[in-house]
Amino acid sequence: MIRFVSENVNQTEELGKKIASVLKGTEVLAMFGDLGAGKTAFTRGLASGLGFKCGVSSPTFAIVNEYSAKFNIYHFDMYRITSEDDLYSTGFYDYLDNGVIVIEWSENIEYALDDKAIRIKIEKSDDENVRIFTIEGLDDYENIIA
Ligand SMILES: Nc1ncnc2c1ncn2[C@@H]1O[C@H](COP(=O)(O)OP(=O)(O)O)[C@@H](O)[C@H]1O
Ligand SMILES: [Mg+2]
Repeated sequence: MIRFVSENVNQTEELGKKIASVLKGTEVLAMFGDLGAGKTAFTRGLASGLGFKCGVSSPTFAIVNEYSAKFNIYHFDMYRITSEDDLYSTGFYDYLDNGVIVIEWSENIEYALDDKAIRIKIEKSDDENVRIFTIEGLDDYENIIA
């Protein structure tokens, strides 16, 4: 398990970039955390690390944004997904194994995650710029945070 304390939004983006550098192309990264936790900021860093230089924002209404980079990236926002039928309709199951899947509001679809999913919990703290990351399911973590 990795614990990482981010002191500002840039450090969160940098963490996303570092994690991008160890991805093989079909990982599922499931993020947990409230509004404003930094899920989109982390995803922006990750996409940038994979060579995607355009805008990254929460796909709250679109549900999924696709970014074409070193790997295809499927960026989901599950905020409005409240049933398994909803999830099925997003095409989520078709995207698995076709690219890197990054999920905001994984709380809503936790039943659909398998054991291989990389779980990223982001918590706010008393300091408004500090976020505590807890990451499970990622190997080689010494190299990532170093
Ligand atoms: N350490 C930090 N990491 C990430 N975001 C931070 C941090 N400190 C402050 N922020 C701010 O918190 C907000 C995070 O927004 P965003 O990434 O859209 O969150 P989410 O997608 O989880 O709702 C941004 O306004 C960002 O500037
Ligand atoms: Mg977001």
